[in-house]
Amino acid sequence: MSLGPESVLTLGTNFFKTIFARVQEYARETVEHLILAVSVYILVCIFLYFSISRWKIIGFKKDVKNPARVLIVIAHPDDECMFFGPTVLNFTKQKECQVYLMCLSTGNNYGMGRTRKKELYKACQVLGIDEGSIVVYNHSNMPDQMGVMWPIELVSKLILNQIETYSINTLITFDKHGVSNHMNHCSIYYAIAHLSLEKKLPSYCSVYVLETVNLLRKYWLLLDIPVSFLLSRIRYLVTSTDRALLHRAMRQHESQLVWFRRLYMLFSRYMLINSLQLMELSDIELDLEIDD
Ligand SMILES: *[C@@H]1O[C@H](CO)[C@@H](O)[C@H](O)[C@H]1NC(C)=O
Ligand SMILES: *[C@@H]1O[C@H](CO)[C@@H](O)[C@H](O)[C@H]1NC(C)=O
Repeated sequence: MSLGPESVLTLGTNFFKTIFARVQEYARETVEHLILAVSVYILVCIFLYFSISRWKIIGFKKDVKNPARVLIVIAHPDDECMFFGPTVLNFTKQKECQVYLMCLSTGNNYGMGRTRKKELYKACQVLGIDEGSIVVYNHSNMPDQMGVMWPIELVSKLILNQIETYSINTLITFDKHGVSNHMNHCSIYYAIAHLSLEKKLPSYCSVYVLETVNLLRKYWLLLDIPVSFLLSRIRYLVTSTDRALLHRAMRQHESQLVWFRRLYMLFSRYMLINSLQLMELSDIELDLEIDD
């Protein structure tokens, strides 16, 4: 018996219908599984957040040794809130800890240097850093410009001077990617790497750098907690009260509050969690080798 053209057609149509139905069902199941997985993940993140910051069931190990005199080195007014907020608040809340801030430019990119410097003092007041512990530089060789690498010799001299003046035992700054690959941020890392390689860094001073995370993790907010948990040893998470405080500090930078920074305040993980890394000589050597 031979098939006529019509039955071939029906056979073909049925075949495709079956396949289509299968694919549809498969897709539906996959989507369902995905939704389920994502929901579970979000719940785990929320649970972790409260366990750490409110119920204190899960404790973060205290890996930063004896932070009695802390120096935070930033490049522009507002870095202290936008990137280092959780770390700064953790230290300013410890009574025995004295926090110093060193800001290497006035953030004069749009001619707002004067305003931004004033805003920095206001923000620091909210964060709990004394006015007398803040120093802001206005050096023509350290302009606020995305693509400008500041002179390593100059930056390292200034930093070393502060370390020695205040007997700093904990220094905190950017890592070599500088959160956003902003050259001004990166130059601070290189300056300190230089100090370390030249063995000029006093032995009582440990350096910790803020880990740069990829773009996806940067805007993941709460969802980054498990990842930071797994990948980093030193982490600071703000409580919801401290988060409100941090937002208030950030709002002192009035001239900077354009829409995308407001979005940043809402979604960035750096305003919720910071992960730091102890900078060791072997890491620096490796880092610089990779760069070459
Ligand atoms: C500071 O961080 C440490 C370690 O993450 C944590 O145990 C401590 O509770 C934090 N302190 C404050 C005041 O947030
Ligand atoms: C920084 O220095 C420049 C040039 O010396 C000066 O015009 C400017 O007003 C200074 N800015 C601040 C905030 O002091």
